Amino acid sequence: MRIALIGAGKMAESLIAGWLASGRIAPGQIAVTNRRNDERLKELETTYGVHTHREKKEVLAGATVVVVAVKPADMAEALRQLAPWLAPETTVVSVAAGVRLAAMTALLPQTRSLVRAMPNTASRLRQSVTALCRGEHCPAEDFYRVRELFGLVGATVEVGEDDFDAVTALSGSGPAYVYLLVEAMLEAARDLGLPEPVARELTVWTVLGAGHMLRHTGLAPAELRRQVTSPNGTTAAALAVLEEMKVPTAVRRAVNRAAARAAELAAAVAAV
Ligand SMILES: NC(=O)c1ccc[n+]([C@@H]2O[C@H](COP(=O)([O-])OP(=O)(O)OC[C@H]3O[C@@H](n4cnc5c(N)ncnc54)[C@H](OP(=O)(O)O)[C@@H]3O)[C@@H](O)[C@H]2O)c1
Repeated sequence: MRIALIGAGKMAESLIAGWLASGRIAPGQIAVTNRRNDERLKELETTYGVHTHREKKEVLAGATVVVVAVKPADMAEALRQLAPWLAPETTVVSVAAGVRLAAMTALLPQTRSLVRAMPNTASRLRQSVTALCRGEHCPAEDFYRVRELFGLVGATVEVGEDDFDAVTALSGSGPAYVYLLVEAMLEAARDLGLPEPVARELTVWTVLGAGHMLRHTGLAPAELRRQVTSPNGTTAAALAVLEEMKVPTAVRRAVNRAAARAAELAAAVAAV
């Protein structure tokens, strides 16, 4: 497999690091380009040993899978620049929030194998969850190859395109919600006088432990919460404040707003 990465930003680097860490992809199998930042290409070449080129034509030569990791607003321009150099059998995967398969098809009419993917930056540590949606004309074997590729950097789920805005809001943007919660917990720990390194260790392991409990017990979050909440105890006192401050409602509104924003971005890209 040869992978061409269009875009050399945070998401592209997370994927490169994760693929290489898997031991199943070698640096020589990855070629990267961006819009104009030569220094960034040099940095990726030095850090990871991947090939980089200024010209899209060079990056696409011999590519089996092209992963486009540019901002949604730059997607139309990037796909137009790729179109002349793409072999018809190449699979094109977009990881951009809110860029619909129909918009990709309109910009790449010669390409049959189109896939939408929504990974997150935990790909770097092979702890992503990537939602994938197969384009209408994408052959099954091409889709499974893409699924395998993203499986190297974490879990994968297949979803219909109608669910993609929700996925973007949940697992694409989701790490930021958890980071915000952790920031607030660390501030509280500082108020309580805990040394920062201790507070960080306690908080990080608490989040990891809760995640592993959710994953491995298969229990509903409400049940896990009940198991750690004694009547009139400390956890109950804290949860009462979170309820009083309407934190659950705020989180629901935030996720809904992210999904709406993904739909707005999709409409803007479709209009380009
Ligand atoms: N970051 C995340 O957590 C995350 C999670 C899931 C999905 N995504 C998606 O991943 C995509 C990239 O996000 P990011 O955070 O990696 O953005 P980023 O760090 O800003 O990187 C964007 C990259 O796109 C390049 N680019 C722009 N136009 C181009 C063109 N016409 N041809 C080639 N390269 C072009 C830029 O090159 P220059 O620097 O040279 O301009 C830059 O390397 C977004 O669509 C986002 O929705 C991100």
